Amino acid sequence: MAKVAAKKNPKAKVYFTVKDSVKVVQNRSGSKANKRVKFLVDTLVKHMHAFVKEARPTMDEWMYGINYLTRTGRLSTDWRQEFILLSDVLGISMLVETLNHDKISGETESTVLGPFYIANAPQYPNGVNICLDGKGEPVYVHGKVTNSKGKIIKGAKLDVWQANEDGFYDVQQKGIQPDMNLRGVFTSDEKGRYSFRSAYPRYYPIPYDGSVGDMLKALDRNPNRPAHLHFMVSALGYEKLVTHIFTPDCPWLKDDAVFGVKESLIADFKLIDDPRRAADLGMPNPFREVEWNVVLSKA
Ligand code: BEZ
Ligand code: FE
Repeated sequence: MAKVAAKKNPKAKVYFTVKDSVKVVQNRSGSKANKRVKFLVDTLVKHMHAFVKEARPTMDEWMYGINYLTRTGRLSTDWRQEFILLSDVLGISMLVETLNHDKISGETESTVLGPFYIANAPQYPNGVNICLDGKGEPVYVHGKVTNSKGKIIKGAKLDVWQANEDGFYDVQQKGIQPDMNLRGVFTSDEKGRYSFRSAYPRYYPIPYDGSVGDMLKALDRNPNRPAHLHFMVSALGYEKLVTHIFTPDCPWLKDDAVFGVKESLIADFKLIDDPRRAADLGMPNPFREVEWNVVLSKA
């Protein structure tokens, strides 16, 4: 049983007042409290109480907030995670992600994972075309994987996924797109190189028919994510990297619904009109080419 603060320290605040609200709640933890949990909850209480004191929600607004979070929870299933989406559109996912992956020596920057990753994408040899629906402008993606000192990393797994030309992931269009369309896992070779063929990514809206969408509408906010290609790169002894590359000409680049764009992740998708190079790479002519080198951090 927790010993209340008053027993340990007779001068501690125990009765609730607006002025002392934070201390009263924080003082309620007992001597056996888990230190990290106490720190996180105490900090949350401090900021939430400051929010209420500043924003002064009415009783109806507070109840609306409770119902809003309840609805967000009810919408969350194995297939849809409305709470993560809420964290994404509030910029919280990006803040947690960026603070936890501080890149100081030129390592590739990270960004949000998003809800459309699936763990068992097919493993392919380098050079394979992952665009199974044949839609979109063809793109040749290639590069190498190194550490921050330029040392080549062979055997790195590059898990890639993207939306199709219509702006949907395969998992959003079961029976319309081929399963595993625009997904694959590639392995860097003895020179650290990887390559695959795909389609020029297109922007798409995040799911906005739920509680998160209602908030975006009330705030007159755009639900679109700028066109991107997801990467998850892992190699033994290195930190797993979750990132995207963005196309440079997307109209939503400066208005990403989830704040995932970092300047260093905007890639140069060159338009190539060169029948010989196209033939060498097994690409139709013309095509897009992007060289994207990945720099991993030590674990
Ligand atoms: C995505 O890029 O797949 C994504 C990220 C955050 C929210 C919704 C989608
Ligand atoms: Fe995405």
